[in-house]
Amino acid sequence: MVNTLTYFGHAAFMLTHDDQSIVFDPFFTGNTWDKAKAEDIKAQYIFVSHGHDDHYGDTEAIAKANDALVISTAEICQKAAQGGCKTHPLHLGGKVDLPFGSIRLVPAFHGAGVPGGHAAGCLVDFYGTHLYFAGDTCLYSDMKLHNRFGNLDYALLPIGDTYTMGIDDAALAASWVDATVTIPIHYKTWPVIDKEPGRFTALLEAKYKKSGLIVEPGTSIEL
Ligand code: NI
Ligand code: MN
Repeated sequence: MVNTLTYFGHAAFMLTHDDQSIVFDPFFTGNTWDKAKAEDIKAQYIFVSHGHDDHYGDTEAIAKANDALVISTAEICQKAAQGGCKTHPLHLGGKVDLPFGSIRLVPAFHGAGVPGGHAAGCLVDFYGTHLYFAGDTCLYSDMKLHNRFGNLDYALLPIGDTYTMGIDDAALAASWVDATVTIPIHYKTWPVIDKEPGRFTALLEAKYKKSGLIVEPGTSIEL
């Protein structure tokens, strides 16, 4: 059975293998892309990068409806646990092995959205697909270390500017992360991040000879 990635727009996406799914930053209610409803999501695991509403989103409703495990920083997990969710807290650098593979929490330089916390990204091994999800972050040179455990198949990087990297920094980041395929995210949800993913993939290919892939919100790809 193949692994698939479904992109819902903004930073919300899901990895699926047979009946096993993990959803990332499940922002559905209020997401202007409007590609799914929280009640449509069937997942055993939820990863949350940080506490801003456009990432924490519908975490509690989905977790409780699916009896799903919330994986995030300790501070986000504390918030989710208070909301009635099962959690597995990590701190930056920590990794958890789960039936699908593993998740390792990596830094993101951004606001945490909860008191005392850090924003995060993650390195995921999902049934043998290796993926870097950057969360919301600026460019930082230690992104060069994310492939130290082996080649990354996919990287999902924000390109929308204003709140995260813009296109120029995201292309440099992609060259450093050096994943086989880089997928742009976190754009066009609101006018303030109205950046063209095609400009990102064109720059990535022209300047860094790297492959970018635009996954249209509301569609899935085989990994
Ligand atoms: Ni944010
Ligand atoms: Mn955001």
